[in-house]
Amino acid sequence: MLRTFFIVLGLSLVLLVAVTGLRGQKGKKTPIEIFPDMDHQPKVKSQVPSGFFADFRGDRLPVSGTVPMGYAMPVSKEDPLPDDGKYATVQFSSGTSYEDTGRFGDHWGTGIPIPVTAELMQRGGERYMIFCAVCHGTSGAGNGVAGQYGMAAIASYHQDRLRTMSDGEIFNTITHGKNTMLGYGGKIPLNDRWAIVAYVRALQLSQNATMADVPPEKRAKLEAVKP
Ligand code: HEC
Repeated sequence: MLRTFFIVLGLSLVLLVAVTGLRGQKGKKTPIEIFPDMDHQPKVKSQVPSGFFADFRGDRLPVSGTVPMGYAMPVSKEDPLPDDGKYATVQFSSGTSYEDTGRFGDHWGTGIPIPVTAELMQRGGERYMIFCAVCHGTSGAGNGVAGQYGMAAIASYHQDRLRTMSDGEIFNTITHGKNTMLGYGGKIPLNDRWAIVAYVRALQLSQNATMADVPPEKRAKLEAVKP
């Protein structure tokens, strides 16, 4: 009897608090946040001054060379190294030619379809360091830093299968990716992809060259320093 009384009393109190109390009043205390996630972020809102900059302007002009999202530097067939501030959408695989796909019909082709100059190699090396070295390593041995953070089974270029692979297939891997490697066709313009292929070839040669690859006039010099 007494127990029933207390149970009923307890339930009525809960009901009373639920119905009357804690309903929509504004508390002065900060609520306890168990998962604050990214609720609070220091940021500058538009049209608002900021003491961070000497001139107190919150809105800043984009840093020079900023590329709008979805765009990349134009790379035309004539001018593989533009830095003139004009933008064009990234060229994915727009055509069906060898240059666009790395294929002749249903076969991979080989050869770099743009002139391989010292500038192109330099460009390829620069782009390689930006886009590929993080996984494949600076020498292409597949030992880039991403491996230490869980990227598994990164291919080394210094295996026979990849040494003998056609340029077109490598170009296609850059464009569309392969298994766990994502494609870079949407990020790296066409000519830069070919520049990277040329650089990958140079990396392969650098780890697998013989005296026969050295120009005759330079062989004596190399022989002299041979251990
Ligand atoms: C996020 C890491 C990552 C980046 C960045 C990356 N790769 Fe890869 N790449 C891989 C992995 C992993 C594989 C092995 C995929 C597989 O399982 O076949 C691979 C495989 C390859 C292969 C061999 C494909 C084959 O047919 O076996 C080539 C060639 C290659 N990558 C070139 C590149 C080039 C060039 C770049 C820069 C444009 C690049 N990769 C950027 C992770 C990466």
